[in-house]
Amino acid sequence: MLKKLFGGLGSAEQFEIPEHDSPLFQDIQWDRLPRHVAVIMDGNGRWATGKGLLRTAGHKAGVKTLKNILKTAIGLNLDALTVYAFSTENWKRPRPEVDFLMQLFADYLTKELQEMHADNVQIHFIGRIDGLPASLQKQMREAEALMCHNTGVKFNVAANYGGQDEILRAVQSLAARAAAGEIQPEQIDEAMLENALDTRGNLPVDLVIRTSGDERLSNFLLWQSAYAEFYFTDVNWPDFTPEDFVKAMIDFAGRNRRFGGLQNK
Ligand code: FPP
Repeated sequence: MLKKLFGGLGSAEQFEIPEHDSPLFQDIQWDRLPRHVAVIMDGNGRWATGKGLLRTAGHKAGVKTLKNILKTAIGLNLDALTVYAFSTENWKRPRPEVDFLMQLFADYLTKELQEMHADNVQIHFIGRIDGLPASLQKQMREAEALMCHNTGVKFNVAANYGGQDEILRAVQSLAARAAAGEIQPEQIDEAMLENALDTRGNLPVDLVIRTSGDERLSNFLLWQSAYAEFYFTDVNWPDFTPEDFVKAMIDFAGRNRRFGGLQNK
């Protein structure tokens, strides 16, 4: 049945937000879903080179996957979906690939903005946004402004993002406030630091999904993932389906989360 649902997902076909009673969701335990899911969308390059294509074809295919996973997250009524689109380390890639990715992000915003808005998505960009091309920054700010009153899934896109960099920027902003006499250093607690992060207003990450076989965090959401569960799959991001995403939800539902204590949550 799922093959029937997803097997023929051609470029002209539109994947709609699955309804609560969709066959896709038949094994979901609705009271044991993660609230905040973070995704490391890895394997675009390997997917493409494995097919004899340019790496950029993998990134293009990855956009379609992202669109379908966002729709699935909406159907699941998740509180937040945070995706790693471009890390502070990704600038080391060849210039044409970096340029392609920047253009891809811009095209994505142009093409998908209104649909995401209609889907009640709240988009937010995290990372050193001021290090991105000026025209892209403008598009990002406009997209955030358009959707700022929406009440659906918080869709955080990490671009020019590094977890250590984010924590450093947060510490610098608190240090500046302390130096200005606005706060006392000993007042700084976890909540204050969390509020200085790019993800302020989001719940902690419950589940980190990484595609394409590697099992590491790669500087993604270091603070926010302190008690996250991890789900790794060998599937490359362009091949990752809503069915695969649901599998991760079902796996998460079976985890025993103790948060350092003894009791099952
Ligand atoms: C990692 O695969 C992927 C990226 C660095 C880019 C992620 C971008 C997308 C999925 C495009 C869609 C995003 C948005 C926000 C429109 P890789 O290139 O590292 O793959 P590899 O490890 O196989 O080389």
